[in-house]
Amino acid sequence: MTKKIVLLPGDGIGAEVIDSAKQVLDAIAEEYNHTFSYETHAIGGSAIDEHGTPLPDETTAACKSADAVLLGAVGGPKWDQNPSHLRPEKGLLGIRKALDLFANLRPIQGFDNLLHASPLKEEVVKGSDLLIVRELTGGLYFGTPSERRNNGHSVVDTLAYERAEIERIVDKAFQAASIRRKHLTSVDKANVLESSKLWREVVEEKKENYPDITVEHMLVDAAAMRLITNPSYFDVIVTENMFGDILSDEASVLTGSLGMLPSASLREDSFGLYEPVHGSAPDIAGQGIANPLAMILSAALLLRHSFNLDNEARIVESAVQNVLEQGYHTGDLNIIDGQKVGTEKMTERVVDYIKSNS
Ligand code: NAI
Ligand code: MG
Repeated sequence: MTKKIVLLPGDGIGAEVIDSAKQVLDAIAEEYNHTFSYETHAIGGSAIDEHGTPLPDETTAACKSADAVLLGAVGGPKWDQNPSHLRPEKGLLGIRKALDLFANLRPIQGFDNLLHASPLKEEVVKGSDLLIVRELTGGLYFGTPSERRNNGHSVVDTLAYERAEIERIVDKAFQAASIRRKHLTSVDKANVLESSKLWREVVEEKKENYPDITVEHMLVDAAAMRLITNPSYFDVIVTENMFGDILSDEASVLTGSLGMLPSASLREDSFGLYEPVHGSAPDIAGQGIANPLAMILSAALLLRHSFNLDNEARIVESAVQNVLEQGYHTGDLNIIDGQKVGTEKMTERVVDYIKSNS
């Protein structure tokens, strides 16, 4: 298989961990006879410095002609005081929108060896394995009007959806549930919001097409509580953009570190953009100690969703599981035993496992 991957390292530890993901993809290509070609482009703060914009046209064009995109992270204190059109995050929102990536998938798993790294009780985290499917290009973050009025004394934000936008994200979630434990929780605020009532209607209609999936509706406040009191209750959660943003950050405490969480942003075809959930971590950038596993697990999602290489994706995921079982961990994981290593060593351990188990 021959594929073109665009790498967008971005800022801070983004550039450090993207190199780890590339090493892992190279090992997979070598072991399974694939050809992956790479092109690196600028986004975020470093793009502002080099090109005067957080999202240069050539970056968007390169992504559009690629089979998949791997993104590190953007942002940092250097650009915090910039006016809003020169903010690194503009690059991130811009590329998601330009590529029409409406479905954000965040798998969250309580790795057995990391149970005590979570601030939650081990018995609560144990067995949790859930997927949050967040709508990414509509809802409250994109609705208009969104503005100050009356000399700043009033303000409005808008939660707007077209039926078709809800249908496509709900379909993605049903499809994801059908290859998992077949339990879908649709999260909304239907007791208050009109948009949630339409959301529920769509879910009710769609469920006729997926008779083997158990579907329930849950209010977002109840879901927020259950997520940390009984996370193993959930299989797949589907929800609106802002609800998904908040719930997925909340769920990140299950794994014990942001450095463990991958994500995929997808549309209807096989194209996708894959990035860790964490940011550019300016506090540890340049020290060689960033946890590369979230980025490596994002590369596994790329193999699965964009290249249909499920077997190869599983090898990468087993490699991560295995190095954790061996006791290797980076400093962000609150683990007393085992061996603390840096980014490079951690990556090397994952690559070694792939090479000796393929
Ligand atoms: P952050 O995720 O960068 O860092 C939060 C904390 O987690 C820090 O203490 C950091 O050292 C640690 N951490 C995160 N990833 C880690 C990893 N792989 N290994 C080890 N430790 C890790 O979030 P923060 O500090 O709120 O934001 C820093 C910058 O990143 C800001 O400019 C923010 O706007 C940006 N950001 C970018 C995102 C993206 O590109 N998707 C997402 C979130 C924040
Ligand atoms: Mg967030």
